[in-house]
Amino acid sequence: LNYRVPRTRKEIFETLVKGLQRLEYRGYDSAGKTLNFTDICLIKKTGKVKALDEELYKKDSLNLDEELCTHFGIAHTRWATHGEPSALNSHPQRSDKDNEFVVIHNGIITNYKELKKYLINKGYEFESETDTEVIPKLIKYIYDNRENDSITFSKLVERVIKQLEGAFALVFKSRHFPGEAVATRRGSPMVIGVRSEHELLTEHIPVQYNSGDCSLSDSSSNINSVGDGRAVEFYFASDASAIIEHTNKVLYMEDDDIAVVTGGKLSIHRMNRQAGEDPVRAIMTLQMELQQIMKGNFDAFMQKEIFEQPESVVNTMRGRICFDTKKVVLGGLKDHLKEIKRCRRLIMIGCGTSFHAAVATRQILEELTELPVMVELASDFLDRITPVFRDDVCFFISQSGETADTLMALRYCKDRGALTVGVTNTVGSSICRETDCGVHINAGPEIGVASTKAYTSQFVSLIMFGLMMSEDRLSLQKRREEIINSLKMLPELIKKVLSLDEKIKAIANELYQQRSLLVMGRGFNYATCLEGALKIKEITYMHSEGILAGELKHGPLALVDKHMPVIMIIMRDACYTKCQNALQQVTARSGRPIIICCQDDTELTKNAYQTIELPQTVDCLQGILSVIPLQLMSFHLAVLRGYDVDFPRNLAKSVTVE
Ligand code: G6P
Repeated sequence: LNYRVPRTRKEIFETLVKGLQRLEYRGYDSAGKTLNFTDICLIKKTGKVKALDEELYKKDSLNLDEELCTHFGIAHTRWATHGEPSALNSHPQRSDKDNEFVVIHNGIITNYKELKKYLINKGYEFESETDTEVIPKLIKYIYDNRENDSITFSKLVERVIKQLEGAFALVFKSRHFPGEAVATRRGSPMVIGVRSEHELLTEHIPVQYNSGDCSLSDSSSNINSVGDGRAVEFYFASDASAIIEHTNKVLYMEDDDIAVVTGGKLSIHRMNRQAGEDPVRAIMTLQMELQQIMKGNFDAFMQKEIFEQPESVVNTMRGRICFDTKKVVLGGLKDHLKEIKRCRRLIMIGCGTSFHAAVATRQILEELTELPVMVELASDFLDRITPVFRDDVCFFISQSGETADTLMALRYCKDRGALTVGVTNTVGSSICRETDCGVHINAGPEIGVASTKAYTSQFVSLIMFGLMMSEDRLSLQKRREEIINSLKMLPELIKKVLSLDEKIKAIANELYQQRSLLVMGRGFNYATCLEGALKIKEITYMHSEGILAGELKHGPLALVDKHMPVIMIIMRDACYTKCQNALQQVTARSGRPIIICCQDDTELTKNAYQTIELPQTVDCLQGILSVIPLQLMSFHLAVLRGYDVDFPRNLAKSVTVE
């Protein structure tokens, strides 16, 4: 923020706190903020934003009624990826005790370990466990070693981001550059809000291609900036929902843009102009309501999360797979790999969707690890007092990391001396803390009670584990290569599946008044049937069953007649012929199957009542693509039936009681 009209400190606090509260829907576990008065002052708390708010009012030294003209504050809610939720790990992160540079960061720095090692060697002391902390330390290092004193803040930031790998949206503040704020992004979103008391004079701002070295006084006096005495406040946010109540005039930053606010003016800097690149950033007027922005263009969080899957699977793989060398490294497991390889068996434990992720990957894990793999529902596993041994490795799969049954199963296995591995989406959760080691699936916060993107990210994480285990198996190299190449293509293929949404909606329109829906398949797609049926049950309240096609003759066939809708998943894999047999048995009983199959499978389409044709990928990843039509189908069915998709009756996102 850069205020040119007087505001009291209290008003500034309130703006920041409100902005953070608007972002809480994205998930949070701690919050912090920086304010610069005479000095930079950091305030941080774990828990809800409210806790931070209360903390502020306890600080007598902050003269809340004092009015300030030029002012700057940054605030951040953190959803932990590296390091547990704590005040020390929350942002802003700082360069040193004097707060020479402070930074807030949304995203993940994948090469932080190398940078941290380098900076520690140079004598910098780290205080948090975050990946972010390398950024303020690095900018201070560059500043301390500057060749001349005229170096600008934006040039420093430009040098910092040259060294960073991963995804980031960053806002910097420094006591060396008072009255100035610099923001940048790569891969993570960043919007700039511009509030003015009059109509803005400009509709866009030209980018300055000046290696970031321009003198800032130049930029504020020419047209390459927004300001001209009219813009009075600037807001940087990772999401428009945080700022929409102050302004609807926004511009979106591009990757590697460096935005500078100083003297009440905003300018955008870049190194060089790339071919085809737009040399201006348009100032747009947002017409959306707050609620709409939080959900993007979607009607429900679940729908948003379904459509996020091309990105969420990338976030799961980020920094872990080298597609050129075919190396897969899960940092949280690598120190235990030897021990895992020597184990007697792998036991995968979870509830609900997380259990289905274990079912979905069991076969490929058996193939890649050459170990027996058991999959277990946590409650049943405990009920049976299942024998567990010291040389077992037990995986606890849980989106929330808090599910009571899974957590109790973890304690049970720990007591028996097994190595415990967490696979969760929530850093700092109980399962994370209590396991010996683990994998964060990094799918981003999931709000819809019916899990969608967490499932596909759990799926990808477990596959990566299999790939890591099989790295030195000569006989498996061809298979590994095939899977790794297919993982690279996965986001594009997911996008293709999502483009079938209209067709799936039309099918849902024909089905939504039915009472029951069967989902049938086998092999790699059996888990898809279980998960698809669970989605339908959870949010549409229709009866739905996932049926192993191999069991059709042993009971479920009795349910089939011309009234019973049957969804069949028949992919071109080792079970193809067997699935075709099941299809014939269904059609022979006048069933009207809706077939989910591979593109251009004319053999199947002629026997189908409806078909949903998917792009083909390697057999063990096909389940990631085949579950998406069922996620979409359940969503449309629930909407058509008039139910609240995100908060189904009687269900909770996180079940923390037995
Ligand atoms: C609840 C949720 C499900 C979830 C299950 C396991 O039932 O409604 O969506 O799959 O818990 O949760 P977890 O957080 O352990 O994955």
